[in-house]
Amino acid sequence: MAAPTLVAVSGLPGTGKSYFSQRLSERLPFVILESDALRRVLFPASVYSRQESFRLFKAVHQLIERLLKEGVSIILDATNLTEGNREYLYSIAERLGVKLMLVRVEAPPEVVRQRLAGRDSASLSQADWAVYEKLALTVEDIKRRHYAVDTSSDIGPVLDKIVAEISKQGKK
Ligand SMILES: Nc1ncnc2c1ncn2[C@@H]1O[C@H](COP(=O)(O)OP(=O)(O)OP(=O)(O)O)[C@@H](O)[C@H]1O
Ligand SMILES: [Mg+2]
Repeated sequence: MAAPTLVAVSGLPGTGKSYFSQRLSERLPFVILESDALRRVLFPASVYSRQESFRLFKAVHQLIERLLKEGVSIILDATNLTEGNREYLYSIAERLGVKLMLVRVEAPPEVVRQRLAGRDSASLSQADWAVYEKLALTVEDIKRRHYAVDTSSDIGPVLDKIVAEISKQGKK
């Protein structure tokens, strides 16, 4: 069985994490774990509390471990803004000997503001500009090697590079 890969995206609301995840999953087989989707299942009337997030990410982490052990590659579509958020991902990848690929997704704030204003109510994410501004204060740089993807321009070239790196790894 090919070695699975864990792709972890990181980015503020509206930067295009779900868009990137979708595009990548069209190129290679991945299960997308979208934290907003799982939140809706676990907490139909979400209040976005710390306690809720704690339970949500406990479930996310359990799913990641189980799927990776079964050889399934995963894209984790969650904000993952702080090193604290990313710590579990570093440790699980190391523990299972799985390749971890980190992707910082970004777009200029003005582009994001317009996207969030235009987002329809069918969107899984409820985050608006106020949430963006609040979360922007908490962002921590990714200290490890990572790719940066700006979704305000053509993501094709960087997507090609990411696909090439994952494909190379899978053949080892
Ligand atoms: N490269 C792009 N070209 C055109 N539209 C885009 C692009 N990237 C994202 N969008 C649009 O911008 C909006 C926000 O993108 P998306 O939902 O992927 O952000 P997100 O990072 O997943 O946000 P959240 O954290 O709130 O889930 C969506 O309506 C999406 O279709
Ligand atoms: Mg999203």
